Amino acid sequence: MVPAMQVRAAVIPAAGSGTSFLPATKAVPKELLPIGDVPAIQIIIDEAIGAGIEHIVVVSSPTKPGIEQYFERDDALIGLLKDTGRDEMADRLEAIGRDWRVTITYQDEPLGLGHAVGCGRDVVGDEAFAVLLPDELMGDSSLLAQMCGVCASTGGSVVGVKKVPLDEVAAYGVVAPSGPMTDDGVIPLTDLVEKPEPSAAPSEFILIGRYVLTPDVFGDIAVLEPGTGGELQLTDALRRQAARSPLHGVLSSIARYDTSTPLGYLEASIAFALHDPDLSGDLRTYLATL
Ligand code: UTP
Repeated sequence: MVPAMQVRAAVIPAAGSGTSFLPATKAVPKELLPIGDVPAIQIIIDEAIGAGIEHIVVVSSPTKPGIEQYFERDDALIGLLKDTGRDEMADRLEAIGRDWRVTITYQDEPLGLGHAVGCGRDVVGDEAFAVLLPDELMGDSSLLAQMCGVCASTGGSVVGVKKVPLDEVAAYGVVAPSGPMTDDGVIPLTDLVEKPEPSAAPSEFILIGRYVLTPDVFGDIAVLEPGTGGELQLTDALRRQAARSPLHGVLSSIARYDTSTPLGYLEASIAFALHDPDLSGDLRTYLATL
């Protein structure tokens, strides 16, 4: 029997408009932009699988058919690769969705992150689940794995956080701690604020696009009203949930890359390539020439 709090599903919201990365995202969803030779969303999936997740729930948009296409098996292409001796690449294509389950569900209009997560409700069901924003790439699975453990031990939702200088908080969701941080970076929280002015910020800890949520949050999402930017905000649903249940933050100590802007995307591409044994040597040589 599965323990009540085991986190098996991860929701990846990928139905946004990607306007910060136009014109590239006019034709290619930002979740499919390549980091080396894999689409960014595959790095997110690998992180989730590494943390013990078995079921990937992608919330896509009808205007982004490429996302569904990435997960569809292509027998003709796999056959061509095998016939021409490229078995290793054929294996890589066959592995997409083979060792984990993927379900694609749709958000018909980009009404906000809270609404997008709510679109996963029927697929996730009545169990704790992770949410991974695909434009935040993490160096490994350790933060998410720790967050799943904190959800199991506290019985409440958990958010990943990072400390930034106070003058940078206005661009992010910011958490309000209610007590000291433990040695392993766990902070009890009372509240969250979306994009506060630094003078009104409750802390310097920002949300970094990783959540492990108990399923009662779907009820809070269902009654959301438009918030910051006129969108149905996940932060507002978490505030409602935090008013009645424990909420914790886990401080991230791993690398994080925000790929939602051209500069962040380039940084992520270089960092991941420097960790790839096939690319790092030649890339270092090239960079040294600049
Ligand atoms: P963002 O706000 O960063 O993505 O949402 P966006 O809306 O695509 O970006 P810009 O501002 O127009 O450039 C974070 C993640 O949540 C998804 C996005 O696809 C992105 O992966 N999202 C956002 C949804 O799935 N639905 C929404 O309504 C909003």
